[in-house]
Amino acid sequence: MSTLLVCPICAQQYPRDEVRYRCRCGETLEVAYAPGDPRRSSASGGLFDARRAARRGPDASGTWRFRELLPPFADGEIVSKPEGNTNLYAVGARAGGGFGRIGAYAGLDILYLKHEGENPTGSFKDRGMTVGVSQARRIGARAVACASTGNTSASLAAYAAQAGLPCFVFIPAGAVALGKLAQTLGYGAIAVQVAGDFDTAMRLVQEVSADLGIYLLNSINPFRIEGQKTIGWELLQDLDWQVPDWLVLPAGNLGNTAALGKALAEAQALGLIARLPRIAAIQASGAAPFYQSYCAGFTAPVVVQAETVATAIKIGNPVSYRRAVAVLRATQGVVAAVDDAEILAAKAVVDAAGIGCEPASAATLAGIRQLVRSGTIPRDATVAGILTGHLLKDPDTTLAALPAGRQPLTAGADRQAVAAALAPYLART
Ligand code: F0G
Repeated sequence: MSTLLVCPICAQQYPRDEVRYRCRCGETLEVAYAPGDPRRSSASGGLFDARRAARRGPDASGTWRFRELLPPFADGEIVSKPEGNTNLYAVGARAGGGFGRIGAYAGLDILYLKHEGENPTGSFKDRGMTVGVSQARRIGARAVACASTGNTSASLAAYAAQAGLPCFVFIPAGAVALGKLAQTLGYGAIAVQVAGDFDTAMRLVQEVSADLGIYLLNSINPFRIEGQKTIGWELLQDLDWQVPDWLVLPAGNLGNTAALGKALAEAQALGLIARLPRIAAIQASGAAPFYQSYCAGFTAPVVVQAETVATAIKIGNPVSYRRAVAVLRATQGVVAAVDDAEILAAKAVVDAAGIGCEPASAATLAGIRQLVRSGTIPRDATVAGILTGHLLKDPDTTLAALPAGRQPLTAGADRQAVAAALAPYLART
């Protein structure tokens, strides 16, 4: 068999279709491919580039376009919308207008933002979910489940609906942003509001899924990680396979950090890229167990009680801790923490550029700014950041954080009254 589940610690192997997320030793499993697998050796930048013009079928998906580097599926097994093909915005300081203001805020002339909020359900989760739900269909799962701060649940609900699978999501009561909750329920998932935080929901969903034989689709599922790798590959492809100096992303449960690291390592091993970029993982300072562990030299995992305005990354006990540590070490990466005020200030800059993102995504820009100011990222570096979720995911936070003078104007329903209301703004032009 060319595709297996393998424990990265004790090297124990399991069949690809065994329903198993952890090794007998307790470590999370990874999908591994046989060395010299001819499917994988046929992969090339040219092949992937040629597929970008496709309008239909797997080639039109920013995930399945890279299918030689993913687990093999029969055509009828794939559940795809399609996903990916998100914009990479060039927002360096010289870009001009609102875009240039992002680069100026960061302190960088060469800055790109890849907006994964432009996926079908508005977050990067769709890339992992298309592979995870395809695997659920392949093994004939009776139902699927996840714990979520909102984006994973919206994505799973949408892909499960497409596949015709019952879907259960465990969410922390009162801590999921409005847009995500509406999506999750609208797409037809059964939501269980857990009296506790995300970390409690994560523990419960693992127990309940095992008890009831439900297929678990959090990022401890190795197929989710496989699909999520394609963020990295598509970003490199957007840059004509030129490697940026830094890749920056928000970090919560650490699945995305793990996936990005696997994507880069595989791209280098396959000769798609010549060197690795450095990864910067950004946490909210009220939910920064990974940052704290990093500061202590990664000697041990840290668990915290999480609190932040960026509810997507309000996570105190990240599941993919060990994998993410390996990625940080392999890429000479850094971890930074930004507080809620920094997150909201960066979000306002991204929003006002006409790009927009949810609070957790703005941690990317806030982190870049901090790392440029501290000299960790040189001002002449080429930096690519990932925006993970769409502005509409969390409308409440956007409205609550609007500065004075940006609230809607009120005016009577006549021309003079409206003109008078606009006058102060026109005076500035
Ligand atoms: N950004 C957004 C918008 C997210 O929704 C998440 C995670 C992250 C960043 C962090 O990614 O967990 O892989 O380190 N959201 C998960 C969810 C936890 O349930 O939607 P990570």
